[in-house]
Amino acid sequence: MSTSYDALGIDIGGSGIKGAPVDLETGTFADDRLRITTPEHSTPDAVCEVIEQIVDHFSTKPHVPIGITLPAVVTHGVVRSAANIDRSWIGVDAAALFADRLGREVHLVNDADAAGVAERHHGAAKGHDGVVLLTTLGTGIGTALIVDGHLVPNTELGHLEIDGHHAESHAADSARKREDLSMQQWAERLQMYYTHVEDLLWPDLFVVGGGISKQADAFLPLLDLRTEIVPARLRNKAGIIGAAWLATQGN
Ligand code: BGC
Repeated sequence: MSTSYDALGIDIGGSGIKGAPVDLETGTFADDRLRITTPEHSTPDAVCEVIEQIVDHFSTKPHVPIGITLPAVVTHGVVRSAANIDRSWIGVDAAALFADRLGREVHLVNDADAAGVAERHHGAAKGHDGVVLLTTLGTGIGTALIVDGHLVPNTELGHLEIDGHHAESHAADSARKREDLSMQQWAERLQMYYTHVEDLLWPDLFVVGGGISKQADAFLPLLDLRTEIVPARLRNKAGIIGAAWLATQGN
């Protein structure tokens, strides 16, 4: 058990639910991360049970803020979409549900938004003012828009339609795997995606996250963009760190 930490972050994904106490000064975990397999029927009740186990595991004191990510649009604590989790989440006031079950307030946030906030404070976009867009390339494409350090939540730019294609279905890492694309073939799709996004937003920086960002050297040099584009640094810790950070912000 860690001695002290600022907040607990929990990242709900399609295959695993991961939690760790976070030291926000350094942007590091204050204790080993706990991962529990996402229940097969990842309903709000089933996931809530796992969250309780994680909160108990770290003996989380009542005053410690808790931030939780979901692969979904979340507005004012209410889940509005569901990617890789049970569709029964849609319309659920998850903030109220968790508060009821845990006996404390929690902060809920979209998974990509949490990762973006973490990268802005402790990772690849640290100290970057202006317009930063984090994209996570995984099963889907998640996006986080951060302007002068402030998150504009729920941008969902993975769902743009580009040249007749749903961007996420065409250019996410899952499309590369599913269609067995070479890096060159995949990069052509990414080129189309990022060109479109930079023409809409004129960002100062793109940060590319998701598991495939470990292999950034194999595809980022193939892209020709006017915007600087860099790999994420916090890898699979970003969601937990960003959720913990947002939980301390009191909104
Ligand atoms: C969802 C986003 C999510 C992203 C990454 C997309 O399909 O619409 O809410 O951030 O996947 O999980």
